[in-house]
Amino acid sequence: MDSKKPWSGRFAADTDHRVEGFTSSLAFDRRLYKQDIAGSIAHCQMLVRCGLLTAEEGRQIVEGLREIQQEIEAGTFPFRIEYEDIHMNIERRLIEKIGPVGGKLHTARSRNDQVTLDLRLYLREKIGDLSRQITLLQQTFLELAEQHLDQILPGYTHLQRAQPVLLAHHFLAYYEMLERDKGRLQDCLRRLNVLPLGAAALAGTSYPIDRAYVAEQLDFPCLSQNSMDAVSDRDYVVEFCAAGALLMLHLSRLCEELVLWSSAEFGFIELSDAVTTGSSIMPQKKNPDVAELIRGKTGRVYGNLMTILTVMKGLPLTYDGDMQEDKEAVFDTVDTLEACLRVLPVVLRQMEVKGERMRAAAAEGFTNATDMADYLVRQGIPFREAHRIVGQVVRYCLEQGKTLEDLTLEELHRFSPRFEPEILDQIRLEVVVDNKQVVGGTARNQVKRRIQELKARMES
Ligand code: ARG
Repeated sequence: MDSKKPWSGRFAADTDHRVEGFTSSLAFDRRLYKQDIAGSIAHCQMLVRCGLLTAEEGRQIVEGLREIQQEIEAGTFPFRIEYEDIHMNIERRLIEKIGPVGGKLHTARSRNDQVTLDLRLYLREKIGDLSRQITLLQQTFLELAEQHLDQILPGYTHLQRAQPVLLAHHFLAYYEMLERDKGRLQDCLRRLNVLPLGAAALAGTSYPIDRAYVAEQLDFPCLSQNSMDAVSDRDYVVEFCAAGALLMLHLSRLCEELVLWSSAEFGFIELSDAVTTGSSIMPQKKNPDVAELIRGKTGRVYGNLMTILTVMKGLPLTYDGDMQEDKEAVFDTVDTLEACLRVLPVVLRQMEVKGERMRAAAAEGFTNATDMADYLVRQGIPFREAHRIVGQVVRYCLEQGKTLEDLTLEELHRFSPRFEPEILDQIRLEVVVDNKQVVGGTARNQVKRRIQELKARMES
């Protein structure tokens, strides 16, 4: 078998081996082999149907392609860098196996529409996989929320203790973020789920092909409507990388909290030995490496988004060689997301919640001060005035080394005569939490209702 390029007709000299190594995308695009073969089989069946190949030719090609898939999966496929990419490696091998008839497969097709087809098929599958992984992480948060329904901790703003909230409410905040992440992936899927085949190099094809038939075979709900757009469009790569970046942003914020909470300064959780690492020098250390790494890997996923945005920004229509750079950004994003989503539920399920420490932090931090002011408002005092009164009470507590709950009614009366005995109950953390009865608030019954809703949704 000659190792000539498909374009050798026009070329008098062989490609320099340094250029061959430089231009080849085989090292990374070989992971598209399954999509490439599925696309080729559908294309071939269409060519037969349209009378562009005989049934016998079609049979040989499809059989050859199936064997090639087996070879790749068995690790016996002879990948050759001089055939540049996965598309030409498969085509060359097909010709090697079944003879010149293999060369008919590429009729009415170009690598330009082929490569974007492969990438669309790949992302379609990966969006499904990732969405399932996100659901498992949401499931983990739901279970944790149920387990810790009574657990109070300080909610923070500016990383200062602000108001008491339920740990379950905190966990469910992540559920909501992840739900939006899934929505963005589905949105991306909707726009990428368009068959580009038939665009050929850029202009469409003069062969009487049946695009609708190919779309049906490959389960695409619609056909691209402009051949030039079809081969130049990488919006879906940008959208996927952007959705991935935002998902990583959410995971990174979670991980930052795990790092903070597992520090001695917070002491809200203890991560299990199975998911932490030790120090090579300091015997006492237990490091939240997994959380730190997820936080760190967010950087490369952002980088991938910046890569594809920058690669595409100056390209004239239609396909440009630059676009070969799209795939590594996609693959690295997929790999990173999958790895992070796989490990996080393990970390979360094994962590120990230090309930007393959490509650104590909420009790120490005057997190019920707003509710004391709200109480005075219910007693008829304007909010601004109530705010000032409670501010003075807090200052008094700080001087005396007391919490708001420690104060007697007599002490409170020094600041306002409107305090009645029930104030002592009204500022208990449990009451403060349960008073947040608004939809979406942290009251126990609101959180419980949301858990039930989400569980029902999971089951359906
Ligand atoms: N390896 C190429 C890529 O990844 C395939 C398409 C190449 N088309 C071309 N005319 N060079 O984008």
